[in-house]
Amino acid sequence: MDKTVDGTKPFRSSRLEEADGEGLNPTHNRTMGEIIAARFSRRSFLQGSLAATAIAATVSPLALAAAVDAKASTSASRFDFAEVVAGVDADHHVAEGYDADVLLRWGDRLFADAPEFDPTAQSPEAQARQFGYNNDYVGFIPLDGADDRGLLVVNHEYTNEHLMFPGIVTIVDGEITVAEADRTRVDIEMAAHGGTIVEIRKEGGKWRPVLDGALNRRITAGTEMALSGPAAGHDRLKTKADPTGRRVHGTINNCAGGVTPWGTYIMAEENIHGYFMGALPDGHPEAANYERMGIPEGTYAWGRFHDRFDLSKEPNEANRFGWVVEVDVMDPNSVPKKRTALGRFKHEGAESIVAKNGKVVFYLGDDERFDYVYKFVTAGTYDPDDRAANMDLLDEGTLYVARFEEDGTLEWLPLIHGEGPLTEENGFASQADLLIETRRAADLLEATPMDRPEDVEPNGTNGRVYVMLTNNTRRKDDQVDAANPRAANAFGHIIEIAEADGDFSATRGTWEVLLKCGDPSVAEVGATFSTATSENGWFGMPDNCAVDADGRLWVSTDGNSPKATGRTDGLWAVDTDGEARGTSRLFYRVPVGAEMCGPLMTDDMETMFVAVQHPGDGGEDWEGFGRPSYYEDLSTRWPDFDEAMPVRPAVVAITRTGGGRIG
Ligand code: FEO
Ligand code: CA
Ligand code: CA
Repeated sequence: MDKTVDGTKPFRSSRLEEADGEGLNPTHNRTMGEIIAARFSRRSFLQGSLAATAIAATVSPLALAAAVDAKASTSASRFDFAEVVAGVDADHHVAEGYDADVLLRWGDRLFADAPEFDPTAQSPEAQARQFGYNNDYVGFIPLDGADDRGLLVVNHEYTNEHLMFPGIVTIVDGEITVAEADRTRVDIEMAAHGGTIVEIRKEGGKWRPVLDGALNRRITAGTEMALSGPAAGHDRLKTKADPTGRRVHGTINNCAGGVTPWGTYIMAEENIHGYFMGALPDGHPEAANYERMGIPEGTYAWGRFHDRFDLSKEPNEANRFGWVVEVDVMDPNSVPKKRTALGRFKHEGAESIVAKNGKVVFYLGDDERFDYVYKFVTAGTYDPDDRAANMDLLDEGTLYVARFEEDGTLEWLPLIHGEGPLTEENGFASQADLLIETRRAADLLEATPMDRPEDVEPNGTNGRVYVMLTNNTRRKDDQVDAANPRAANAFGHIIEIAEADGDFSATRGTWEVLLKCGDPSVAEVGATFSTATSENGWFGMPDNCAVDADGRLWVSTDGNSPKATGRTDGLWAVDTDGEARGTSRLFYRVPVGAEMCGPLMTDDMETMFVAVQHPGDGGEDWEGFGRPSYYEDLSTRWPDFDEAMPVRPAVVAITRTGGGRIG
């Protein structure tokens, strides 16, 4: 990546997670690997037969005809809506018969004392009272048990300077170069990170945010937080500013997340490496730890104005990020807690479910090429009648990492200090040490290196768990295994886990590949969408997902583009059962340059909230634009389409026109 004038690399911070590289896992564990794709399930073989009929690497008319013919057999599908036509343009599109209404845009006021959004006169103070940038996770916490009133919780993952700020971009050799950041810009960026908690109400069938809702809150990269659990107070978490190792300011790169059964909001810290700059002092003991996490990357200039993001000044600060953060939304002054028991890595999200035995199970992905899938099982049990009794469940429990065996079984390996190789001899003096370097502990247990684990979501209806694996173009032929069955996996896949006896707290299970993604009409891609899937229904790069109250799976994507797949990202409905298993349909698609986040279906199944992230970030490969997109020259000005307004990430509420259940 080109260096910019100030020596940092702020351009396309959105692409942190997609940076070219081999992954950071030095072990490339091959516990079942180096055994080439021995296990393709019978189902995946049958579904792949469409691809097998196409003999050329180009789109095969034969295969497309087969896909269209097969549409007749969609009767078994659990979805019933008219599919959106896949494609690329400046607007968003939802299935016919549905309304997609913008609910909250970057800069929208959350408090009456906040100024109206003015992108030409933005300030850190204004931004901290307005909806943040790049909405990712969306959760809903009903208030007073009502369907039509609740708290929307939204993560703001990162900022795109070239889309947010006027007058900072020059085009050099056809590429965007961003001017050096000043203190104000950095502080606006920090205030645009974090999360939003905002009351919303549904009136006349439409949702609206409540300005000055009593529980409205912005959390930013400066909000005071506590470190809790086994690593809290450890020497490796102490800094000059916090000699206790228990207090930290802010949360960053909050990607996906979760809402716990007791109604707290989980913000997962993902690509934290880009926020740190500077070099560790020579011979510093954290060097190997930071290397395993890709720290520092220096994408952002924050460390020039805030010492804690400069490793030469605060070498331990980066150990205080990469955790799962829990927020008590019922108290707007509560101190969010970084729950160290859930490990430190590039946390994608933390969706949870109560197991039969009352323990609560959190599913966790570590989004890096060749990194791992985890779950955390609480030591205590959930009490549905006593919220206070659940508030520290996340401080005690067992973190497990997944090993996907070649025979279709799965083992969850516990990360417990003193067990197996997780000993002092291997550099772990305590559970705190192990949690700070979760990745290295999982390496030693010979977990299965995956193709970038994103969302992992349990399905309480069918007892299964869905794992989104977004892509890994760096996997080589000799690194292919049953759970990561394609080399140079450009389009990703989805794994379905069945925990033993339907017990989410089990340490064993079985698994199979639900879908290998990509264009099923191109034989070399090897995609396995069912033959009932239309030309609009297939997708690449699964990222976030949602399981609705009926147990149906919805998948949103990150990385579809004119060049990659001839379509924008979007939200697809995917059948998981019966004859229709592996059938996918496009329900909603985003404007050019955007990624699809959220999604979240309300329990009454009448609203699907989706988050449109980094719209307008790109446009070079779209024939409707054909050049770099930035503040003054944007590939889309969604959602306002006002020349005075830049493009704005936004949360959209999708409802059925006139009301009713979705899908
Ligand atoms: Fe922030 Fe892994 O997506
Ligand atoms: Ca994601
Ligand atoms: Ca992503």
